This record gives sequence, C-alpha cells and structure tokens, in this order.
Amino acid sequence: MPNLSGVTVIDHPLIRVKMTELRDAQTTSAVFRARLNELATLMVFEATRDLATRAVRVQTPLAETEGAALVRPIIVAPILRAGLGLVEGMLDLLPDVSVAHIGLVRNEETRRPESYYFKAPAHLAEADVLLVDPMLATGWSATAAVAQLKEAGATSIRFVCLVSCPAGVAQVRDAHPDVQIFTAALDRELNDRAYIVPGLGDAGDRYFGTT
Ligand code: URA
Repeated sequence: MPNLSGVTVIDHPLIRVKMTELRDAQTTSAVFRARLNELATLMVFEATRDLATRAVRVQTPLAETEGAALVRPIIVAPILRAGLGLVEGMLDLLPDVSVAHIGLVRNEETRRPESYYFKAPAHLAEADVLLVDPMLATGWSATAAVAQLKEAGATSIRFVCLVSCPAGVAQVRDAHPDVQIFTAALDRELNDRAYIVPGLGDAGDRYFGTT
C-alpha cells in the first residue's frame, strides 16, 4: 500500500459511475469528452473544498447579509495535451479564472519530460494553482510541471487528476511534499509501457479522437 499522506481519493457515487464510462473501451470520443468535462467539474468542487474565504457583505432584495469571497485567485494549469480535456469542465465552475499552459514532451533517450511551452499569468505567486492532467502515471511530467510553476513563482499548487497509481503518487509526493494530490481513482500499477493498469488507455488520444 503506498503512503497516501497528501493524497485525496475522491469517493463519490457520481464520480465512480462516470469513471466507469471513461474506462470502458467501447465509449466513443463524444461520450468520453462529455464525461471528462463532467468529472473535471466534480473534481474541482472537491479539490477546492478547503480554500480560504473572507467575509463580505451582500445586499439581498430583502436585507443585508454576510457572504464569502475567495481570499486568493485560482489558476488552472493543464499539462498539454491531455490536461486540456479537464479545462472546460473546471471553467464551468470557475468561469473567471486564468489558465496557464504547460507543454511537456518526453525525450525518448532520457525518457524524461522536456519543456516546449510554458505560459502563466503574472499573479502566479498570489494564486492557488490547480495543476491538471487526467493521468498520474510515472509522475515525471507532474514533477517537472510543479518545478516549472515554482520557478515561475507559484507558492500553492494542488495536482488534480482522474487516474493515478502508486508509482506516480510516490514520485510527486517525494519530489514536492507540499503538493496535495486529488484523484478520482488510485489504480493498481504501471505496465512496462508506462500505462496505468487498469486505467483507461491514452487519455489524450481518447479525448481528441486520435486513436
Ligand atoms: N497517459 C495516459 O494517457 N494513460 C496512461 O495510462 C498513462 C499515461
């Protein structure tokens, strides 16, 4: 059993049902996209559960009352390409947040990710960053993405994925113990091609219909 400190496996009936459809090899790209969007919305709801709020006053049609505003802005940061599949569903719940983009490609010799694109908003240091990728497999991309965000000034990063595995969780938590991981499922293992088993296959290919 992996060390699960700092890892939240979000257990919710709707998430389990939608994950089942995502995993099903018979699911079409259209349905896969729809479920991924819905899961992104559900995940962001849980991953932001403990964000700090401050009291604000609001005037209803009947009286003034106390409300809440987030203390810090949120930035959604997808790891390209598959992370893009989670952005739309997150923005449904967070319509006015900024989106950073992190492009990483695997160097086939070193087998490690290399950066080909990085663009983040100027207020990175003041924001709670939701770094997103549907799959946490080896954890090398997530680790590199966190390092890039920190180098650019990020001080608060949460990693949100749908499927993770013990190796990926251990890699990210060892390299960046300050980064909490939110996942919809913690699967058994990686195979020798670095795919998560049972997993759901290649999330980017299934989302973009490039299989
Ligand atoms: N990336 C994917 O899309 N799927 C995996 O199983 C592992 C990495």
